Amino acid sequence: MNNKIFNLLILLVLISTNLFSQEEITVKEIDGHIKHLASDQLKGRKPGTPEGKLSAEYIANDFKKSGLKLIAKKGFQYFNIITKVEYGKNNKLKLNKINYQLKKDFVPLSFSANKKLNKEVIFVGYGFDIKTDKLKWNDYENIDVKGKIVMVLRGDPEINKRQSVFIPYSNNRAKLLTAKDKGAIAVLFVSGNQIDSKDKLLKIGKSRSNSRADIAAIHIKRNIADEILKKTKKNILELEKSINKDKKAQSFSTKTKIKFTTDVNYKEAKTQNVVAILEGSDMNLKNEYIVIGAHYDHLGMGGHGSGSRRPDTLAVHNGADDNASGVASILELAEKLSKEKTHKRSVVFIAFGAEEMGLLGSKFFVKSKLIDTKKIKAMLNFDMVGRFDSKTRNIVISGTGSGKEIEDLLKSKNTSNFSLSFSKEGYGPSDHASFYAEDIPVIYFSTGAHDDYHTPKDDLEFINIDGQKELTNFSYTILVDVINRDKNLTFQEAGPKKKSKYGRGLKVTLGIMPGFGTSNIKGLRVDGVRKGGPAYNGGMKKADVVIEINDESVANIYDYMNRLTKCKTGQRITVKVLRNKKEKLLIIQL
Ligand code: BES
Ligand code: ZN
Repeated sequence: MNNKIFNLLILLVLISTNLFSQEEITVKEIDGHIKHLASDQLKGRKPGTPEGKLSAEYIANDFKKSGLKLIAKKGFQYFNIITKVEYGKNNKLKLNKINYQLKKDFVPLSFSANKKLNKEVIFVGYGFDIKTDKLKWNDYENIDVKGKIVMVLRGDPEINKRQSVFIPYSNNRAKLLTAKDKGAIAVLFVSGNQIDSKDKLLKIGKSRSNSRADIAAIHIKRNIADEILKKTKKNILELEKSINKDKKAQSFSTKTKIKFTTDVNYKEAKTQNVVAILEGSDMNLKNEYIVIGAHYDHLGMGGHGSGSRRPDTLAVHNGADDNASGVASILELAEKLSKEKTHKRSVVFIAFGAEEMGLLGSKFFVKSKLIDTKKIKAMLNFDMVGRFDSKTRNIVISGTGSGKEIEDLLKSKNTSNFSLSFSKEGYGPSDHASFYAEDIPVIYFSTGAHDDYHTPKDDLEFINIDGQKELTNFSYTILVDVINRDKNLTFQEAGPKKKSKYGRGLKVTLGIMPGFGTSNIKGLRVDGVRKGGPAYNGGMKKADVVIEINDESVANIYDYMNRLTKCKTGQRITVKVLRNKKEKLLIIQL
């Protein structure tokens, strides 16, 4: 080989390595991250398990490798979660010399305080203290409950109405709080005929984010309630009827004492967020922070109460899309940003724990003040970014109303012909909601829901890695802008800050997964159709957009819910959908 050719070769090698080193976000690396995090070995990354911790360690190591500084405790911000609620051995209830039985006659509620009491019972109807323009109803008005036990009816007089003024006052927790405010030391809940004609006892551990109340709460069956009412010659079903009719307080002392012990145990476990930082280069702006987040936890082996949509199948819920994909994206973004050193503001990368249990990791982070939330100027969230559809090129971006400049920014960076579906709401089913609640502008990237969501089939083989790389590169341009722009994004309110109330549970369902992030289309996009469900049998397909139910228009999820509540089981309804821009009428048997 002569010298010239040799030099040329050297030059070529230099150029190509230089080119390659530019490319920090690679298919190989995304694939590697998801392969590892979604492997059976990590058993679905359940919070509080050894595998959950191993997942966190993998992420911390990768942050470190990319040159980020691990903060909190070597990158781990620990917090406690409740993994299980169980009845202890000491649950007792005695009345008029009768000993009643746990789970047959009574159960303490999962949020009950553990108490031993022997006190008089006051009946307080539905246990309301409502003062609104539309409604005034105070069950505690003419009766003193200080230091006493109250007995309340569950629910409210309009339990079958979807939209009702009573809804915020109807749940057990709200009633317990009212009783406590009035000085009661315990609440006995009893079902009327309307809320449960069969009088079944509540199940323990249903709520995913338990926090204990400071007074006792017991669910008793109607036989116990009637025994308590015996001296007054009343019974609970008659009382229910008469209160529903008069719609006002009918409170009185039962002149009867009840003796009980509640014993509910919480099993706790330690889990963690993984937090790392890239310090800003600008003297002044480095005191401002941009958060890039993705949750790394998932549902473990599934099962009842886990959030799995196949609760009867115990199998590894690998969560390749939900949300190994999001973690892979932020690891790649961290690496690229660290190498390219284009960051005036400081950037905090967080892999959140326990998102699936109710956004627990992100809630803990914002409350922890590890970083002062006032200094956090924007939050970018990645949750389920692995199922990019190369045909439609759709990316769902939520929170776009939470900052004045966000939609324009996204449009201006869309040079790769993505079809961007904007959803303005700052609240949503993932960690950005915790930041939006603190008045921080949020941008949430996702490729949307699908049939395998929260099932053991959310696997690597269905991830579109090339597509995810495209999405991640696009988000990088947004992130660089947000980090380095002269003026921060301007926060705007975009919808409620908490879970919005759709009203009460639907009686009939179509068996579809409604899409969100579609506020720029009219109708309700269908993100999944359950096999064998009414919609499936009626010929509905994924990506259909529901625009009418029984000739009445459907513009969004709220309309959809409202139209559906008017329908009854067994009824045949017509549903008009848009499929490939053409209208199609389906007949669906409910
Ligand atoms: N990744 C999901 C949220 C999601 C669902 C994103 C569908 C895109 C499409 C998240 O992990 C999740 O499961 N969220 C819960 C709510 C949360 C507060 C526990 C949900 O959607 O039920
Ligand atoms: Zn999930």
